[in-house]
Amino acid sequence: MRIYQAHDYNDLSRKAANIISAQIIMKPDAVLGLATGSSPVGTYQQLIEWYRKGDLDFCEAKSVNLDEYKGLGPEDEQSYSHFMHVHFFDHINIRPENTCIPNGLETDEEKECQRYNKVIASCGGIDLQLLGIGCNGHIGFNEPGIAFDKETHCVALSENTINANARFFASRDDVPKFAYSMGIKSIMQAKKILLIAAGENKAQALYQSICGPITPSVPASILQLHNNVTIIADEAALRIILKEHVILPGGHLK
Ligand code: F6R
Repeated sequence: MRIYQAHDYNDLSRKAANIISAQIIMKPDAVLGLATGSSPVGTYQQLIEWYRKGDLDFCEAKSVNLDEYKGLGPEDEQSYSHFMHVHFFDHINIRPENTCIPNGLETDEEKECQRYNKVIASCGGIDLQLLGIGCNGHIGFNEPGIAFDKETHCVALSENTINANARFFASRDDVPKFAYSMGIKSIMQAKKILLIAAGENKAQALYQSICGPITPSVPASILQLHNNVTIIADEAALRIILKEHVILPGGHLK
């Protein structure tokens, strides 16, 4: 695990975008695992800027998203599909047929989870998975207590996550209670993982994920077992870690 401190959100976004663009430059047909939420918005903006300058080309790239609310379709402004179009896909030259997101409108959970597992497998696996982290340590919608061996599954969102995501909806009652999510097993099979975290409300989860025991109660703690994880976080998110450790220039903790 390599950990890098960003000066602020812009710096975090630029650093993350640099890693993603290096992936696309070195492997133009790379499979990117993508996330939604507030954390990656700046990263997507930076990638769009470099694409517009002509420095990046996504025409061969493929993407698979981590998750989608069950019950919401692409037309719904709160869906993750809509988010990806507004914040990223509509501004770059990725081919629509090369972007995959769980189908929130599929009511047959078993069918949708199997379909999505096949989508990931048929891409040949994920080259670089971008992750945010929930205040409770979730990655994707893999909530505390989740088994580490899951592939795509339908999740009951925790109270914590519903409260945290209520900010994107007119009211808390509008937040869907279920979501389709790539499982921890699928995330851990990605060749490289890039986790970004900004803000004080991520400090405890980040500390437990990096310095604590590996436990399903903190889903992101499983990343300690992956051999290629890069974490970029701002000072607020690193606050508790920095009380106990120093980050060495190579990204390791002392
Ligand atoms: C989103 C996702 C979630 C978020 C996490 C952090 O696709 O998988 O795990 O990354 O909830 O959300 P933000 O970035 O909004 O704090």
